[in-house]
Amino acid sequence: MPSANGSSSRPRACVIGAGSSGITVAKALHERGVPFDCFEKSDQVGGNWVFANRNGMSAAYRELFINVSRERMQYSDFPMPKSIPDFPHHTHIARYFNDYVDHFSLREKITFQTGVEHASRRDDGVWEILLEGGGVRLYDALLVANGHHWKPRWPEPAFPGSDSFEGVQMHAHSYLDSSIFADKSIVVLGMGNSAMDIAVESSYVARETYLAARRGAWIIPKYVFGRPVDQLPSNARVPFKVRQRVMHQLIKTLTGPPERYGLPKPDHKFGEAHPTVSGRILDRIAHGAITPKPNIAALEGTDVRFADASVVAADMVVYCTGYQIAFPFFDEDFVSAPDNRVELFRRVFHPDIPSLYFIGLLQPLGAIMPLAEVQGEWVGDHLLGDYVLPSQAQMRADIVADQAAMRARYVASKRHTIQVDFDDYLRDLAFERRVGAERARAHLLPA
Ligand SMILES: Cc1cc2nc3c(=O)[nH]c(=O)nc-3n(C[C@H](O)[C@H](O)[C@H](O)COP(=O)(O)OP(=O)(O)OC[C@H]3O[C@@H](n4cnc5c(N)ncnc54)[C@H](O)[C@@H]3O)c2cc1C
Ligand SMILES: NC(=O)c1ccc[n+]([C@@H]2O[C@H](COP(=O)([O-])OP(=O)(O)OC[C@H]3O[C@@H](n4cnc5c(N)ncnc54)[C@H](OP(=O)(O)O)[C@@H]3O)[C@@H](O)[C@H]2O)c1
Repeated sequence: MPSANGSSSRPRACVIGAGSSGITVAKALHERGVPFDCFEKSDQVGGNWVFANRNGMSAAYRELFINVSRERMQYSDFPMPKSIPDFPHHTHIARYFNDYVDHFSLREKITFQTGVEHASRRDDGVWEILLEGGGVRLYDALLVANGHHWKPRWPEPAFPGSDSFEGVQMHAHSYLDSSIFADKSIVVLGMGNSAMDIAVESSYVARETYLAARRGAWIIPKYVFGRPVDQLPSNARVPFKVRQRVMHQLIKTLTGPPERYGLPKPDHKFGEAHPTVSGRILDRIAHGAITPKPNIAALEGTDVRFADASVVAADMVVYCTGYQIAFPFFDEDFVSAPDNRVELFRRVFHPDIPSLYFIGLLQPLGAIMPLAEVQGEWVGDHLLGDYVLPSQAQMRADIVADQAAMRARYVASKRHTIQVDFDDYLRDLAFERRVGAERARAHLLPA
């Protein structure tokens, strides 16, 4: 390991971001005695969960509630208070992250209102970090926790007529509350969780709300058998196909086929797309407050024409078309994620760039936080030499196999490039950490 301070002591690390991923990796480094700085653009921790965050990157809206349950989202050693609801409001979540930082004495380790403008790795392996507002710092390791839900992905290509549409076009990222919909005709595009929430909110105040989609989705209720759906027993040792069949049957039994509500028929089974969770959308459709539509075909003056040739007059189109993964502080030819593709060993280690780590860069069927927590511990062990990676060739082979499995399972979409199954990922990481710890011990043995 090179040393940014010229000594052979513990490596010095830089963490970019103090969202829920950055703060948990900060804790792992802190506990292991790895010296680090954590730079955060905003004036507070919590990233996406800070409504109207000063960093301009949060997608939170006034009525945002989490769609995984409290107990799935909490870190392993810091339970969320039982006094807050099963599916808490964003203010509860932001407060929880603040409490975590104070509980583990991390706040003074974070440099607020200090963005990382540029990061590059010198030939001697030392990271040069240029801070916004000036100043260069040197580190041995770089941990990237900058989030992946802040850069809007607009429809690609744009719909014909979008440059001359007379209504408003906006992306879900800039949606704050439903007051903008009052007495208007609104078209919401997408079948992900943003589209569900925003269409439901619109349906209470708009004159008309249309939900347009190019593909159907299985809509998962928040509760099943009186329990949060993600707290149903799940065992990573049971083959995925078996778990999938059970859940598929359960959802179908509970709600019936989405076509029954006028939504597009899903072209896939449960578990083959990122989960769409909503306890309210089918109800609002059933009440006639939301009208399902196929994909948008074109925007024509004040009208929206859909793929089935139907036309509605619309004041506003809300694109809930997802996000781009981006690392603006890296040179494009150094590390980038074209079409959201980023090839990492188990979503963390760059196979070709040593001492570069990504935290929270994954889309679980479940919450990111407990997974980021384990990723942080894993990287911390690696920085101390207690975990040794497999060879570069083995990492490459692992990545190729993982990408092939993801392509085979998931619907082809730019939103399905970093998917993991929550319990399976935790189990696989635990195994890999044990194997890598044995490699580390073998390294220490005299030849
Ligand atoms: C509307 C919405 C709802 C969601 N709901 C859920 C949910 O219910 N459950 C769930 O598990 N996930 C949910 N997600 C996913 C979301 O990505 C995670 O909840 C979580 O925010 C990820 O945390 P993070 O720390 O990785 O990223 P973020 O929360 O985005 O935090 C990244 C941090 O890095 C900082 N940063 C970025 N660039 C720099 C830089 N160059 N220099 C310094 N600092 C920088 C930012 O200021 C920010 O504080 C949701 C996403 C959206 C958009
Ligand atoms: N309450 C909550 O907790 C909550 C709320 C909102 C968001 N989130 C989370 O935030 C993340 C982002 O969610 P999201 O809903 O914003 O994005 P998303 O999950 O990426 O969904 C994007 C949707 O837009 C569609 N789409 C993309 N490009 C399109 C195009 N050109 N034309 C037509 N349709 C297009 C996609 O269809 P294809 O499938 O065909 O690509 C998909 O239905 C997810 O992790 C989600 O769980 C959570």
